[in-house]
Amino acid sequence: MPDTNRTTAPLPASDDIPAEAVGPLLRGLDVLRRLTDAGGRLSLGDLVRSTGLARSTVDRITQTLARMGHLRLDGRDAALTPRLMELGNAYLASIRLPDLLGPHAERLADALDESVSLAVPDRDGIRFVHQSTRRRAMSLSFRIGDLLPAERTAPGALFAADWDAAAWAHWRERRAADPQGLGFHAVPPLTDAQDTPDEAHFADRTHRAGDQGWALDDQLIEPGLVALALPVSGPDGRPVCAVSVVSHTSRHSAASLRKAMLPRLLTAVTGMERALREAPATEPVKSATALASWTTASKQELGAGFVESLARGLTVLTAFGEGRSALTLTGVAEACGLARATARRALITFEHLGYVEARAGLFRPTPQVLGLGFPPLSRLTLPQFAEPHLAALAQQVHDSTSLSVLTGTEIQYTARVATSRVMNVNITVGTRFPAYATSMGRVLLADLPEGERAERLAGSKPQALTRHTVTSVEDLGALLERVREERFAMTDGELEEGLRSVAVPVRDRSGRSVAAVNVAMHSSRRTAAQCRSEVLPALRATAARIEEDLAAAGRFTRTAAC
Ligand code: PHB
Repeated sequence: MPDTNRTTAPLPASDDIPAEAVGPLLRGLDVLRRLTDAGGRLSLGDLVRSTGLARSTVDRITQTLARMGHLRLDGRDAALTPRLMELGNAYLASIRLPDLLGPHAERLADALDESVSLAVPDRDGIRFVHQSTRRRAMSLSFRIGDLLPAERTAPGALFAADWDAAAWAHWRERRAADPQGLGFHAVPPLTDAQDTPDEAHFADRTHRAGDQGWALDDQLIEPGLVALALPVSGPDGRPVCAVSVVSHTSRHSAASLRKAMLPRLLTAVTGMERALREAPATEPVKSATALASWTTASKQELGAGFVESLARGLTVLTAFGEGRSALTLTGVAEACGLARATARRALITFEHLGYVEARAGLFRPTPQVLGLGFPPLSRLTLPQFAEPHLAALAQQVHDSTSLSVLTGTEIQYTARVATSRVMNVNITVGTRFPAYATSMGRVLLADLPEGERAERLAGSKPQALTRHTVTSVEDLGALLERVREERFAMTDGELEEGLRSVAVPVRDRSGRSVAAVNVAMHSSRRTAAQCRSEVLPALRATAARIEEDLAAAGRFTRTAAC
């Protein structure tokens, strides 16, 4: 649902825009920002209204972004897709903080049994780059990419200790323009009745934070939420981020949080700073996405509506990554396979909007890049982003498709798109079946390490569910070996008479099977050979699309399997 109370700051007045900025890129970024702020989905009509762009322009922009895989057109709606996270991933890989400090934050959260986060300064706000969340019913938890006003957080007081007069002036201007903080979508707006932290209060917290080396948030965001933050310094001694431990007044007051957690947080910071000092220099990793698929497609294939300057411009952000945190213009152009003049105009556009910083001939992405999709997309689960791919497959093959995970000796359906054919009406999300008798179960069992596979088969105590069910553990073991080699499974009437199902695995970045997708049909609809030639290729293509989404979403976030 679009949040109509909230605002996305308008684009700068046109006389502020540099003459060389790329218009379609400015407009495309505006569309992505508005979709992000609305929670990842908006109708095209709402996009027209909120951007003030012509309908035909919104159509061309959304079609281009859809062709790039950054959004999906879903009836009258545009919805962001996990592939968009490749932009934020490029930023997060370039700063290396999640890779180097994330495991430390995770261990700290385990040890303290409280949520731990990493945040970086983002102008007069703070932006989260990592969350080790311990889910608790009582308080809201933030997402990677969420932007919070500095004055209402613990890390903000630490970062403001380094602000110069211009930064304070910018902060005052923002507060005057948006007193309720409506531009910060992740935090509850300040109400008139609420005691808005005034400048003296924030300045005082900032001075104390600078002196003490830690800062507290005593329910500045919402009643009950308390946090303690410490700065983490890089090898040059300057703070690169803040680590926070977050709790609730049902467990800790701000003062007791400090008393209980400060010593352990100090030790953790020492470990984090060592990790940053001792991190080996990285070899530049070639970006997998730099030469995006559309660059090799012909104009005809892309269609008249494809806005090439928008596509080229966005690709520039993927030039950055591990070992490529700061690049020259030539470096950017080479990484993306773009002409220097094209890369330069895109960089001017990004710099103007604050997505890229230019210093001494080097360009770097800023945390603002996470504002292009990360907050809503980082919480999507595997079934949520599999569903549109399943729907497309169901439409293509005219049969039901599902996604399942393995739990013990059973599979559990986590997403399903059923066709209108009257079969299996009783299968819904949550349904469980014995793994040995289903195609999805077999691909998941087949991918287990040998010992575990044998153990689960034995633990299944196979029974004949129909007269076709294979029940011998030995025969099933041989079947699974074949499934493992062929990377698909087919069953016919073993779970239910007359039901044929074909399944393939869905693998994560490490190659581990995390789920299976299938197509199920009446046995009379296709022969086994037809299933192989007609259904299997489409099924494999669907699994590959889900895997691409999973790879993009799982790079820096933990994607839940259900
Ligand atoms: C959080 O990580 O959720 C967090 C951190 C610092 C705050 C508030 C919340 O001040």
